[in-house]
Amino acid sequence: MIDLRSDTVTRPGEAMRAAMASAPVGDDVLGDDPTVIRLEARVAELLGKEDAVYVPSGTMANQIALRVHTRPGDRVVMDGESHIRVHESGAPAALAGVTIAPLETDHGIFTPDQLIDATTQPSPDFPPGLFDPTTLVTMENTHNEKGGTVWGIDSMRSVSAAARDLGLAVHLDGARLWNATAATGVDLDQFAATVDTVNVCFSKGLGAPIGSALVGPRELIDRGRWFKKMYGGGFRQAGIIAAGALYALEHNRDRLVDDHDNARRFAEAAADLDGLTVDLKSVQTNMVFFDVADASLFAERLRSTGVDMLALDPTRIRAVFHLDVSDADTTTAIEVLRAVAASR
Ligand SMILES: Cc1ncc(COP(=O)(O)O)c(C=O)c1O
Repeated sequence: MIDLRSDTVTRPGEAMRAAMASAPVGDDVLGDDPTVIRLEARVAELLGKEDAVYVPSGTMANQIALRVHTRPGDRVVMDGESHIRVHESGAPAALAGVTIAPLETDHGIFTPDQLIDATTQPSPDFPPGLFDPTTLVTMENTHNEKGGTVWGIDSMRSVSAAARDLGLAVHLDGARLWNATAATGVDLDQFAATVDTVNVCFSKGLGAPIGSALVGPRELIDRGRWFKKMYGGGFRQAGIIAAGALYALEHNRDRLVDDHDNARRFAEAAADLDGLTVDLKSVQTNMVFFDVADASLFAERLRSTGVDMLALDPTRIRAVFHLDVSDADTTTAIEVLRAVAASR
């Protein structure tokens, strides 16, 4: 089976497993796991921030960020289809107690004016204290639900500048920031410099089995460590998995452009097929979304011919390219797609 459902399906290869098996470990809750300490230092260095905390998931990293930047009752501005809003199981309301002001965007990218509009009181006649205060804005780069689309550095800078003027904190859900860097050539630390905190995931395109990090100023990360423990993220000999993340950081970033090339090749082939619609402008990294009538039946036919994709809704299918999908697999996936499209 060629598994294109997500870039989270990758399995650790021999070399990564060997690095994990031989990792020195301690007790992460007591703060002395040497491999976790090394991973946190390395990711903070790569992103040009003071500190990082290693956590079990991107969801936990994002939710800790919301918690450290806000107080219950605050409002957070983000694209309406942000992972934080639609795929984190209601956590913003349940854990940080915040409301979300969702913005409508084409590719997940919003403008400073949209941010300013979302934080402006409807009328100056209302006295202070009548509305929930906005204290945080988040961006997602690359944007999952919009097809792996990229925030360019200039767009991030201008939204962050507007946020600063409004006195807001800025968090970046950079689960796939590695892909944004691979696609644009803009270094990780340049993206990170525009925001206060960043979530980065090791378990997606980088191919590590588990884990993410929240990266930012030491004071916030120290506070984040408290919430990590509170949310049940204290994992003891976590060096075993941190070693996989360290391995992925050093070995699997440069090859992400190959996934982007495969996604582009697949998208262009899909766009040529009758009955399929692809927004080629949104194919910017490792994901391809296409529209078909009856997506779940179409996905079922693909699956029965050896290519697994995810039907996201009644008319939309997602294919994601990653470490375990070779150029030859991509060619096979294109052939299967053509055959299934022709058989309808
Ligand atoms: C953009 C984005 N942020 C956060 C997450 C959450 O990561 P996790 O599944 O590790 O909780 C994901 C997961 O796919 C994601 O795509």
